[in-house]
Amino acid sequence: MHNEIQRPFSRTFAAAALGAALLAAGLAPGALAQDAGPTQAQVDAVVEAAFPGIDAEWAARLTPDETMRQCNQFGNMPPDDVFEEIRTRAASTIVYPDDGVLMGSWENGEKLAQSGYGMRFSDYPPRRESGGNCYACHQLTPQEVSYGTLGPSLMGYGKLYDFSEEAVKAAYEKIYNPHVALPCSMMPRFGANAVLTIDQIKDIVALLMDPASPVNQ
Ligand code: HEC
Repeated sequence: MHNEIQRPFSRTFAAAALGAALLAAGLAPGALAQDAGPTQAQVDAVVEAAFPGIDAEWAARLTPDETMRQCNQFGNMPPDDVFEEIRTRAASTIVYPDDGVLMGSWENGEKLAQSGYGMRFSDYPPRRESGGNCYACHQLTPQEVSYGTLGPSLMGYGKLYDFSEEAVKAAYEKIYNPHVALPCSMMPRFGANAVLTIDQIKDIVALLMDPASPVNQ
């Protein structure tokens, strides 16, 4: 496994932590199921119980921004007007490279896709650049056999779209802010939330869209 330990570890840990938090908040784990319909207050209590004694920077991250609030409110299936509002807001966050070149080095993109470094408890103060952790949710190259399946396989992604210019732009926007293509996406907003820089995003776009990338071999 090339990635940080947290790739397979974090899911187990998160599930255990959530279970414990649910119990602490007086909820049976099943109570979060959509049909049971927990109230916002119950959800807030679970979140608060899950992260006791955290510092201010982390505490701020527990407060959903407007997009997350709307997605939570509608169980990730907002009505049409809210769906469009989220999409429009997401589109307004996207910043393109000054020179208009959307692809960098796939070799570096592969390293970033492997790296789960950044924004974890142990990553403060940051000692190196954050990664994209794409393999936590996606299959990308045939060489890497350790990957998550929350997101679809991206193997052969560029080839699938004939390496078209529009597809390159769509990939850039997807990574920058996935709510443009799909409001209430479960994928992180790497550009909009400043997890990755524009240059890093270009390298990851190359991993997906460069014909020479192992993703397309
Ligand atoms: C927490 C899990 C998660 C992480 C991490 C993640 N993604 Fe995703 N991604 C998803 C999910 C879920 C979808 C499907 C829903 C959607 O399209 O938003 C998706 C969709 C996509 C799509 C669109 C696929 C299609 O059907 O056209 C692309 C491209 C993509 N991700 C690229 C990436 C890249 C590159 C990274 C790393 C920088 C990454 N993702 C990190 C969860 C994730």
